[in-house]
Amino acid sequence: MIRAVVRAALNEHRMRVVGVLNGFDGLIWPEGAKEMNEESVSGILPRGGTILGTTNRGNPFAYKSMENGVEVVHDYSSLCIDNARRLGVDAMIVIGGDGTQHIARDFVRKGLNIVGVPKTIDNDLDATETTFGFDTALVIATEAVDRLHTTAESHHRVMLIEVMGRDAGWIALHAGIAGGAHIILVPEIPFSFENVCDAIRARELRGKRFSLIVVAEGVKLPATDPSGKPIPPAGPGNVANTIGYTIREMTQKEVRVTVLGHVQRGGSPTPFDRILGTRFGVAATDLVAKQQFGRMVCLKAGKMDSVSLDEALEKMKYIDPDCEIVHAARAVGATFGDGR
Ligand code: F6P
Repeated sequence: MIRAVVRAALNEHRMRVVGVLNGFDGLIWPEGAKEMNEESVSGILPRGGTILGTTNRGNPFAYKSMENGVEVVHDYSSLCIDNARRLGVDAMIVIGGDGTQHIARDFVRKGLNIVGVPKTIDNDLDATETTFGFDTALVIATEAVDRLHTTAESHHRVMLIEVMGRDAGWIALHAGIAGGAHIILVPEIPFSFENVCDAIRARELRGKRFSLIVVAEGVKLPATDPSGKPIPPAGPGNVANTIGYTIREMTQKEVRVTVLGHVQRGGSPTPFDRILGTRFGVAATDLVAKQQFGRMVCLKAGKMDSVSLDEALEKMKYIDPDCEIVHAARAVGATFGDGR
């Protein structure tokens, strides 16, 4: 995306491009900001991450830090605007998920000219069919499910894989379908241990002595297990382990758990994401050239489009338990642990 912005800005519009380091932090401390040219983006197409650095912490409008052992909150937004002007910036392209786009929208309200680009592996922005990064994370998660599938089958085990998705279970749902998981647990569909264990037992009765469970890290746990024992609170990083423990107790099966973690966020982007990033970057630069600010580029019916940032932030995209893709997963035999 950065490569596309730099090339389109220089080649098509004769604009100058400044790279701000580490997200909005780079407007609070602008010392590292640098003029970008063809050379700055040469060879980065197959690279993951960002050459500019980033942060998903810290909102310039309410920036938390520790001073003399006490947490203090500063509003650095006016400083950011002054620094942007000092850098000679007329317009900004802001790349990120809903948190980033909220900050972008607040800066627009304060007078900055901004175009947003949707980038998150969570794919949870309703205004765009797909966010940049989702496909790459999905390919990694699907490969992991495939790899676990064969070892689970060989060892007759129940295997759980925890994937990212704090509020939305898109990676789990898609990787679960693509990898042929038997049980998919997502934040949007409440599950019970009885239903999950019934599904495992039903497979055993059919001679399938293994089960593969994809768990979104944000899945909501029931308060107690079927014997009434409280389930300890769990979240990203240990939720699949917590679920695995109860399944082991209930089924006496051998259970193994894999937490995929930040592997999903690293490495080379897929061709789909490279193309989407290129299209988003060029579309965002075109909007800047047309001075259409306060908007976010998006993919609609396969085409580049844009919506106002207000509209983009109106609605997040969560899994509807009755949607066609969930129906497809159920129709080919997956269960969501909800008894349907
Ligand atoms: O929002 C994107 C995301 O990858 C989530 O899926 C995940 O829960 C979170 O970021 C992880 O954040 P961090 O890198 O700060 O642990």
